[in-house]
Amino acid sequence: MWNVMSFEKIIFGLALILGNVLPAQVLAEPDGSALTNMVLQDCGSCHGMTLKGGLGPALLPENLEALSVEAVAAIIRDGVGGTAMPPWKDLLSDEEVLWISRHLKSGTFVQGPGAAEN
Ligand code: HEC
Repeated sequence: MWNVMSFEKIIFGLALILGNVLPAQVLAEPDGSALTNMVLQDCGSCHGMTLKGGLGPALLPENLEALSVEAVAAIIRDGVGGTAMPPWKDLLSDEEVLWISRHLKSGTFVQGPGAAEN
């Protein structure tokens, strides 16, 4: 029999399920502004805050011309063995790595605030 108590339990259960499922789906879409900050700060700590190079080489479009988006993504995912370039696959999803690679290749990170947020 339906009564108010069981109806409330169902609503509560649904809210729990939705609360658990929805944020994960939202996160599957790369968060442009968070990733932009991450690239400029974390990657920037080696590649320079303006990605013009430091301990690691410059990551401007002209520096990455010879590499495809997939090749750049593979380097970011797996790092470069025997160098300071660490693998990022435990910290970034494949979608996030591809997003960063596309934006490195197109130079949007260094074209002013907000340029890479889409
Ligand atoms: C601890 C220092 C360090 C950090 C942090 C770092 N890198 Fe690197 N990265 C390097 C070094 C050193 C190399 C050069 C490796 C070599 O000699 O081939 C490199 C190489 C690369 C290359 C290849 C460039 C080329 O022209 O072959 C890409 C792309 C790259 N890094 C992207 C990134 C991204 C994106 C991040 C942040 C998610 C990042 N790196 C964070 C040190 C770092």
